[in-house]
Amino acid sequence: MKKIALTGIKPTGPPHIGNYLGMIKPALALVKEFQALYFIADYHALTTVRDAETLKRLTHEVAAAWLALGLDPDEVMFFRQSDIPEIFEFTWVLSCFTSKGWLNRAHAYKAAVDANTAAGKNPDDNINTGLYNYPVLMAADILLYGTQVVPIGLDQKQHVEIARNIANTINNSYGTFLKLPEPLIKNQVMTIPGLDGRKMSKNYKNTIPIFAEPEMMRKSVMRIVTDSKQPQDPKNPDRCNVYAIYKQFASADAVANMQIRYLEGGLAYSDIKQELFELLEEIFRRPRENFKSLLNDRPYLDRTMARGAENARAISTPFMEEIRRKVGVR
Ligand code: TRP
Repeated sequence: MKKIALTGIKPTGPPHIGNYLGMIKPALALVKEFQALYFIADYHALTTVRDAETLKRLTHEVAAAWLALGLDPDEVMFFRQSDIPEIFEFTWVLSCFTSKGWLNRAHAYKAAVDANTAAGKNPDDNINTGLYNYPVLMAADILLYGTQVVPIGLDQKQHVEIARNIANTINNSYGTFLKLPEPLIKNQVMTIPGLDGRKMSKNYKNTIPIFAEPEMMRKSVMRIVTDSKQPQDPKNPDRCNVYAIYKQFASADAVANMQIRYLEGGLAYSDIKQELFELLEEIFRRPRENFKSLLNDRPYLDRTMARGAENARAISTPFMEEIRRKVGVR
């Protein structure tokens, strides 16, 4: 039996190339070595999304995106979180072993409290308990299948630590039976600059979209901030946002060659950007077409995720029965 790698994907819209490099590609690289369970965290999204059609669309978009980028649903258990009823029962059990102080200190909740305090409002103004309990639901996601590895971005590290703390607390009461998950964080994620040089993030509106029309992708690439060196000037590749993105996608030979052209001068930034765009277009043309046709067949997406859920429940159902026995409700 392979070890289990699990991650949740919050449906927040089609991914950009920073998501691809930081999360999707590393997660897909694990699927041979591990039994992967990758799911769409739709109930996590409900802490913020307030419209049913939007939540459905976002879920289908992110499902289509992962399938288009190479997730093989025969290999990965790919499902909706909301299709696993055991998650919610388990969440309650876990909450009874979750120190309230851990949740008070969880980054997302703390940031919301700090923003309220700074604005002179009541600290808990407009904060729902779904946001507060978010880490417990996430711990249930992780612990319910005996997950050993959790590929995530750095921003999720604290959540995996909370899951470990909860698992330890339960193991202390009932004997060691929950596996402790390890976060798997690709630190190169942090170095993917967005168009303005800050970390690429939807929050900063500095992303390069993967699935937008080519003209949109080209426009984004052309907007990448560079210094004001002239074409003939020698340039420093290591301080250039265009190069930083280029080197994530180009072959080693092409990168070495590009480095020489920077150092020698003679290259206009607009030409380098055009090359980067063409490279991205070559890589993502097919996935973009697949994305479109998958999105046009939502019943297929639903069927695929339902099949994944059935397989995941083959693990979660007996596991939840064991939990019930352990705590004594059975
Ligand atoms: N909180 C994660 C995010 O915002 C999504 C998520 C939900 C998750 N459950 C998970 C990630 C379990 C890893 C494991 O990206």
